[in-house]
Amino acid sequence: MNDPWQYDETIQVGTDYGDPKEVGDYDERMLKLRDADAEAKDIQKALSLSTDSTVWEIGTGTGECALALASAVKHVYATDVSPAMLEYARRKAERRHVGNVTFEKGGFLSGFRPDHPVHGVVTQLALHHLPDFWKSRALGAMADSLHPGGRLYLRDVVFPSTTDDYDAFFRTVIDEVRLHAGDRIAQQTVQHIKTEFSTLDWILEGMIARSGLRIVGKDCSGFLSVYVCEK
Ligand SMILES: C[S@@+](CC[C@H](N)C(=O)[O-])C[C@H]1O[C@@H](n2cnc3c(N)ncnc32)[C@H](O)[C@@H]1O
Repeated sequence: MNDPWQYDETIQVGTDYGDPKEVGDYDERMLKLRDADAEAKDIQKALSLSTDSTVWEIGTGTGECALALASAVKHVYATDVSPAMLEYARRKAERRHVGNVTFEKGGFLSGFRPDHPVHGVVTQLALHHLPDFWKSRALGAMADSLHPGGRLYLRDVVFPSTTDDYDAFFRTVIDEVRLHAGDRIAQQTVQHIKTEFSTLDWILEGMIARSGLRIVGKDCSGFLSVYVCEK
């Protein structure tokens, strides 16, 4: 039963990834800025994935990571709350003739989830869409979905606790983003800080520990952090 206080994660916060125009633009920008194959290799290594592994990717977006991981694992369940993202990702999988990725509607808290424990859970640039209490529920659900010894790869914008002056820190980050990724992404970074729900590292780490996961790897570069966690 859906309790009336359940957070409605289908409503997009900040950037509207439900808008088909935004979806195409996002894919184009990410293809220029990121190397999905290199990301998939890092994930494969961090999660010790093999061709027998099943993986659940949450907030798959345009599916680039799920499709890049596909050749290294048995199956990827890739979910997102945005029907426009899922449609775009399914078409991409068809064009590339990738058959072992299934795109399903669902988020951290609701909708599709694999019907058996998975070896790896992956989520990139998506958990910050939830306020903190709901992040902790999401981390619990991710932990529940893993085999004992299974791993979570969590990459997101996380605010560091090592600065005393957040305004100066944000100004520096936005200047760097503008320099390396252009005005549009700098503007989205401003919107991110203002309207989305990135949290502080110590809060996120506390939530991870309480969800029954152990942090076995952490890598912070500027605004982005990667946590590798084991059940
Ligand atoms: C910034 S995009 C990241 C997409 C992809 N993971 C990547 O790294 O490029 C954020 C994605 O998270 C999805 N999203 C937002 N809230 C979500 C939720 N509660 N559960 C799952 N996905 C969510 C959005 O629809 C969007 O596709």
